[in-house]
Amino acid sequence: MNREAARTRIESLRTTILHHNRRYYQMDDPEIADADYDLLLRELNALELEFPDLITPDSPTQRVGAPPLDKFGAVTHRTPMLSLANAFSDEEIREFDRRCRRFLGREDPIHYVVEPKLDGLAVNLLYESGRLTVGSTRGDGAVGEDVTLNLRTIPAIPLSVPRTEDPPPPPVGGMAAVPERIEIRGEVCMEREAFRNLNRRRTEQGEPPFANPRNAAAGSLRQLDSRITARRPLTMFCYAIATAEGVTFQTHEAVLRTLAAWGFQVNPLIRPAVDIEECIHYYHHIGQMREELPYEIDGIVIKVNDLRLQERLGAVSRSPRWAVACKFAAIRERTVIEDIVIQVGRTGVLTPVAVMRAVRVGGVMVSRATLHNEDEIRKKDIRIGDTVMIQRAGDVIPEVVEVVQTARIGTEKPFVMPETCPECGARVVRMEGEVAHRCIGIACPAQIREHIVHFASRGALDIEGLGDKMVAQLVTNGLIHDPADLFFLTKERLLGLERMAEKSASNLLEAIGRAKSPPLDRLIFALGIRHIGEQTAKRLAQACGTLDALMAATSEELQTVRDIGPEVAASIVGFFQEAANLQVIQKLRSAGIGDMMPHRVPMETARLQAAPLAGKTFVFTGTLSRIGRNEAKALVESMGGAVGSSVTKTTNYVVAGEAVGSKIEKARQSGIAILDEAAFLALTGC
Ligand code: IVH
Repeated sequence: MNREAARTRIESLRTTILHHNRRYYQMDDPEIADADYDLLLRELNALELEFPDLITPDSPTQRVGAPPLDKFGAVTHRTPMLSLANAFSDEEIREFDRRCRRFLGREDPIHYVVEPKLDGLAVNLLYESGRLTVGSTRGDGAVGEDVTLNLRTIPAIPLSVPRTEDPPPPPVGGMAAVPERIEIRGEVCMEREAFRNLNRRRTEQGEPPFANPRNAAAGSLRQLDSRITARRPLTMFCYAIATAEGVTFQTHEAVLRTLAAWGFQVNPLIRPAVDIEECIHYYHHIGQMREELPYEIDGIVIKVNDLRLQERLGAVSRSPRWAVACKFAAIRERTVIEDIVIQVGRTGVLTPVAVMRAVRVGGVMVSRATLHNEDEIRKKDIRIGDTVMIQRAGDVIPEVVEVVQTARIGTEKPFVMPETCPECGARVVRMEGEVAHRCIGIACPAQIREHIVHFASRGALDIEGLGDKMVAQLVTNGLIHDPADLFFLTKERLLGLERMAEKSASNLLEAIGRAKSPPLDRLIFALGIRHIGEQTAKRLAQACGTLDALMAATSEELQTVRDIGPEVAASIVGFFQEAANLQVIQKLRSAGIGDMMPHRVPMETARLQAAPLAGKTFVFTGTLSRIGRNEAKALVESMGGAVGSSVTKTTNYVVAGEAVGSKIEKARQSGIAILDEAAFLALTGC
């Protein structure tokens, strides 16, 4: 496709994708299947890859994040971000209504708007000239953190809002053109299913799971590396316009309608209510359907609909008088901690787990809850024998909320982290800067088990029939000590195991045999290198091509691969320096696995995952004013490109700053594209 045709197609794809974003996020009424949407995005990605200078910062593909920051900047909110007063019962809700009417001196019922109270974190989005320029957290209400780069990666947040050039007309029925400067507020959260999948991936990668979707959302949004945020499934629902210069609204309903019309996601369950009794009805109704909602809510918010009344009511201390948060009673139960046991994971992390008297919490029987780590136990002062309140957070991992201190009888035993591993007796250490304790035993059966289970798991070598129980049996009976031993199992040895029949032994051996030629990315993932999940393994396979090349790569080389920073690179290099790991790899090779196997990432996936500047070489000349030379170099490399020192046949772009040298002449003669600083920054999405 030539450039002009590509430009036309790119524009049409962007318009179509934006249309479908609106159908999905604003109208909750998608017109096409997710897979078809992915196809459009994939085509756009591929075209932008071929014509990187046609990439614009607000293209739907530009949500991949940027190189990490040292720390977040501070943002002073132009309008403070208030919090809400709480109500916990019907009577307290009626009391809120009485207060409002008393203050306004009115007998008539007040019209309200009722909204689900999402359990995430509040953010403020500033758009100038239609473009998202600053996004910040609430912070202390007056000053928040600048998380713009992170918010830009969230698909539900428009990077730009279409503006008409004319001055905004007065709002008609609440609709208004988008003014020069607008500030939008809402809640960033993570849906339950996305949260479950994220935790599953984290556990597979030997990382601690998040306790609940709120923590996952907050942890993801407060990442200094926005490329990590980009991989976290965050979404945002908007509920207020804090600034819209030149536009006035009459009702909160009109504000919400306008938000939706401008392209923001507004919760579809928001309703008007003619009086407080209707609000209370809604409170109970939403309370009943709470567990079925795709996201977590901790209550509803009731807001006075008429904005003039809101203004008259004003705020007291740091909460508005015109709104109230009506909280639901948490799904909590009381039980007793009978024991605290230790679970040892693949990476040797010791996790304390509470074994509790079984109790039903929100319809599910619960008898175990993770206590995360020693610090967490200390903080909550949890002891064996304690009566505790537990709650199901994020409907998956039960959590001990607090100890019922009044139930203590004095026989409760404080928990002590063992000094040796309960599985293998090796020393337990706590690395500096980590909350986790780890077993350093090289032959720890728990680690070996978890390691082999990971090796055989679905995203890795996918060996059918090799689940937790089978692996435990093989390890306990001394048939295998590491993943490579799987390929040396014989039928005779398997038949020596209890309850192992001829048929199951053959099935298992066949499944192992089928796994002998894994694609390189799966093999890399299977090795269980710390911090290497499926995605990163794919990128490494693409970049290195063979296991040998990966093993020989230096930390610097590894860091040229997208998403790999110094910590991950060090983990890879360290893994291949470990004699025990090299022995396993050698054994795998002697079984005929993974040797010199070229990667087999399907071409389509490879294109999609390739960095936008992959295969492109840049040369810088002259002084750049908005970005340092090293920073610019890092930026190109983080997007998959390379930086050369002189103009050669392989140079694709010369970036010219002030006071350029002879390189520019050479570029001109060779017909190489010359970008000024602004064009370079636009190309890289800065
Ligand atoms: S209105 C001045 N509406 O609840 C009113 N808040 O305690 C500002 N929240 O910080 C907030 N859903 O994080 C509002 N539909 C909703 C909300 C909501 C969740 C959170 C928000 C805020 C906190 C107030």
